[in-house]
Amino acid sequence: MRVLIIGSGGREHALAWKIGQRADVTELYVAPGNGGTASIAKNVPIKDSDVEGLVAFAKEKAVDLVIPGPELPLTLGVVDAMQAAGIPCFGPSAACAKLEGSKAFAKEVMRAAGVPTAAAGVFSDRASAEAFVREHGAPLVVKADGLAAGKGVVVAMTDDEVRAALDLMFESNAFGAAADTVLIEEFLKGEEVSLLSFCDGKTALPLPSAQDHKAVFDGDKGPNTGGMGAYSPAPVLPDADLEAMADIVTRPILAEMARRGTPFKGILYAGLMMTVEGPKVLEYNVRFGDPECQPLLMRLRSDLADVMKACVDGRLDTVDLEIEERSALGVVLTAKGYPGSYPKGMPITGIEEAEKVETVQVFQAGTKLEDGCVRANGGRVLCVTALGADLKEAQTRAYAGMEKLSMPDSQIRTDIGLKGLRRLGLA
Ligand code: AMP
Ligand code: GLY
Repeated sequence: MRVLIIGSGGREHALAWKIGQRADVTELYVAPGNGGTASIAKNVPIKDSDVEGLVAFAKEKAVDLVIPGPELPLTLGVVDAMQAAGIPCFGPSAACAKLEGSKAFAKEVMRAAGVPTAAAGVFSDRASAEAFVREHGAPLVVKADGLAAGKGVVVAMTDDEVRAALDLMFESNAFGAAADTVLIEEFLKGEEVSLLSFCDGKTALPLPSAQDHKAVFDGDKGPNTGGMGAYSPAPVLPDADLEAMADIVTRPILAEMARRGTPFKGILYAGLMMTVEGPKVLEYNVRFGDPECQPLLMRLRSDLADVMKACVDGRLDTVDLEIEERSALGVVLTAKGYPGSYPKGMPITGIEEAEKVETVQVFQAGTKLEDGCVRANGGRVLCVTALGADLKEAQTRAYAGMEKLSMPDSQIRTDIGLKGLRRLGLA
């Protein structure tokens, strides 16, 4: 079997690690890949946005399964293009990827599907947005409609902060066309959790819950990042509640997208706020989260390629997901300064030693392999992930692995998993 993974993050290293465990995988390509994928697969220098180049490569190599990791190629229609070329590709069509690519579209679909979400207004001009702010008042959440690499959301606690956010979106052009349309949402209070499900257009199979840590510093302080660490399961959404939650936040979306003639296939990721009124959807992603993917794939015992092919073929109703009982937790190491500007090129040592800690896997992200030396090449550099009998043990092992690593000018959060441990009475 020949497999092509698209992307260059920790998620893609984890996907390659999992897919590579399959005995019949003869060729494993990652485009463009990173320093970690370079040692377990063949990196191919094609950008994730180069849909034509990716299709041409997949055709030339007679690839049997394509797995796009990030949202960009999905919103650009890589699944549609691969399908037109007769190449099985796991993920949503461009029509479905709009659930992530446009927050206004996602809101409209949620309303049509009856999915609980924050009340929101959608605006394309400053004056009507201002009128909404005068009527409702802070706290409010201001969101750019389009893709903004996780940075297009401002939680504004005062009216002045709301106006500053509107300035940023409408006037400074900081988000370009992504902010031509802006959503202003009711501020929701609660603990966040993610529910990711495999989908084949009709059937949704939920994975166990996961929790990301978006803020850069301990205690959820500082600006939002792509994610500083994640763990699974999150006690705020226990296994016993997964099916019921998928009935509320996932399956109605599948039904609505099918009704529109654009059935959803791939991973549907529901970002939830567990409020006192019940769960409310903050956002949908149409792919694995990064870093949620790393702990989730360490817990998935099923053959990933088989599950993905069942999604592509519409046979998910014949599949049972086999999940590792143990907990998993991943801690991200970043370059100092991230998510602002940061240095590159620092050497990273101790990866092998880290992986000698029981169950630890180091999934690389912003790295490159240069003359046998792994060097930093991005903001989020790697994710040290471990399994444990419980969340506490997974956390202890992941941080023990991190201790073995060294990189100049690095930073980590030291409290990954803390909310879960508190909920379990273990911290
Ligand atoms: P999103 O990209 O929509 O998930 O937003 C990014 C982050 O902003 C979320 O993970 C939340 O921490 C926060 N956020 C988004 N929407 C809301 C909301 N309505 N109320 C409170 N926080 C929110
Ligand atoms: N970690 C959140 C995301 O991948 O969007």
